[in-house]
Amino acid sequence: MCGIIGYIGSKEAVPILLDGLKKLEYRGYDSAGIAVLKDNKIEIKKSKGKIARLEDLLKKSIPKGNTGLGHTRWATHGKPNNLNAHPHNGCNSEIAVVHNGIIENYLLLKERLISEGHNFVSETDTEVLPHLIESNYKDNLTSAVKESLKEIEGSYAIGVISTRDPEKIVASRWRSPLIIGVGKGEMFLASDIPALLKYTNRVIFLEEREIATITKDGVEIINFEGKILEKEIINIEWDAEMTEKSGYKHFMLKEIFQETMVIRNNLEDRINLSTKSLELYNLSLSLKNIKEIKKIFILACGTSYYAALVGKYILEELTNINVEVDYASEFRYRKILLDQKDLVMVISQSGETADTIAALNSCQEVGSHVLAITNVRGSTISRKADSVIYLNAGPEIGVASTKAFIGQLISLYLISLYFAQVRESLNFSEIKKIISEFIKLPQMAEIILLKDPEIIKLSEEFCNFHNFLYLGRGINYPIALEGALKLKEISYIHAEGYPAGEMKHGPIALLDKTFPVVVIAPRDKVYNKVINNIKEVKARDTLVLGIATEGDKEISNLADRVFYIPQTLDLLYPILAVIPLQLFAYHIADKLGCDIDKPRNLAKSVTVE
Ligand code: F6R
Repeated sequence: MCGIIGYIGSKEAVPILLDGLKKLEYRGYDSAGIAVLKDNKIEIKKSKGKIARLEDLLKKSIPKGNTGLGHTRWATHGKPNNLNAHPHNGCNSEIAVVHNGIIENYLLLKERLISEGHNFVSETDTEVLPHLIESNYKDNLTSAVKESLKEIEGSYAIGVISTRDPEKIVASRWRSPLIIGVGKGEMFLASDIPALLKYTNRVIFLEEREIATITKDGVEIINFEGKILEKEIINIEWDAEMTEKSGYKHFMLKEIFQETMVIRNNLEDRINLSTKSLELYNLSLSLKNIKEIKKIFILACGTSYYAALVGKYILEELTNINVEVDYASEFRYRKILLDQKDLVMVISQSGETADTIAALNSCQEVGSHVLAITNVRGSTISRKADSVIYLNAGPEIGVASTKAFIGQLISLYLISLYFAQVRESLNFSEIKKIISEFIKLPQMAEIILLKDPEIIKLSEEFCNFHNFLYLGRGINYPIALEGALKLKEISYIHAEGYPAGEMKHGPIALLDKTFPVVVIAPRDKVYNKVINNIKEVKARDTLVLGIATEGDKEISNLADRVFYIPQTLDLLYPILAVIPLQLFAYHIADKLGCDIDKPRNLAKSVTVE
């Protein structure tokens, strides 16, 4: 939610700020702006809409200067218009601030500042910050920021520049991410790693309530008590190429086509192919801890939540441990009934989802071990969790999560198999059998991706419908939910996911020939049940698209269209079944001319509650 970029060095700031903003646009795209400091003057340019509009504005006149801040906004307080766009400044235009988060006590602060003579121009919560810093300013910017932040309630990641103290950027964070990029004679500030990779892969992760004073030659970081802190510079393994579209029309398509690589990376990294045994690093759970687990809670949001639902089936099946899955946003407000022997897992691609972080905090407060499954090294969740499994998926830029979902599923399989190995809920030959099938997955995924032209044809046939029902049963029910989510979020077509067996308890009333049904029906143990459900649907004159196992003739006599996926173990079908559904949503959205990588109203990292 909102992207922040900052630059201080000897190059012109604007091209670097714009480039960084483009990399951060997935975090919000309601409006964008920059502030550049030169010769005791801060020049601000901002515009409603996407970065491209800001770029057009800048073509008319480019502010010159080697120090600047940029911001791309996902509106919370105040409409997405020019006035509410960041950066914001105080009364004398001496201070400019970019902010990600929500200042909860802004109305009180605003009232006070107005009574002291400050003049506000926007409807945002953020605008209190430059005024507060202005009113707290004595002799240096860092102290003014520190004193101001002590008065703030809510969440923030901020970057501040001032003509009164011009050789620096001051930054701080509380419940919103912020990282510092370390260059040679130049320094950077950003909400996320992809914005920096073109310039440096040496970063410092700012922790909660730390205040950084960044100059072109380095950074000094203090805490709220003013103590100077020693911080480690981390080398990030991702490179700049990973954040480009590499010839694909959209990041989403590139990321779907990277799924084979994601599966392969994870298998090569964790499975010893000759012995077919598993290794899971970063797991600080002892074998005794694993053996004693009584119950597992998996907490996540959105697509990660659907991965968690698949995880429930896998874990219960392979380890015999009872698993409960909850939306992190719901769990955080529930009475927490955790036993010391329960394990908590949180799943988050970004590692920055506010609700998931809050749920993680609540679980740690009662002493639970939290195992995180995340994509982003250095993210808040990866740093807070007691153990971390990384997705090995590379940066995911498209707002709709695709390859990360595959990485999450693979991680859940690997954890389940590892727990099964430790707890001896499966014997060695059973584990070997699953691993042998697992190893074939990259090739199977490749076969599906090669059939993309078939999906393009299907999308042409289906793109003009306004409603879809997705049905699945057992382990493929969450895949129905995920397929429907993908379609609705990028094409704005209404789609609902439902357990196939529940259809006759309500949704069947909706069905007619204008309401197609996508049924995930691989040849697994509930296949015959799903076939009966398809018959019920067909009796209502409804168009059916089936996702079925290669060679299944029966379904081709029933469904109007069938997309075949390779045969595998029952438990592994979700990985294969979701790929055509991701492509189906992608191509429909493309046919409809939607802005696929930046769907309206969405942002990639939901860092506010
Ligand atoms: C959907 C999507 C979202 C995220 C959700 C959680 O395509 O991307 O539903 O899955 O916002 O995000 P993370 O996984 O970063 O916690």
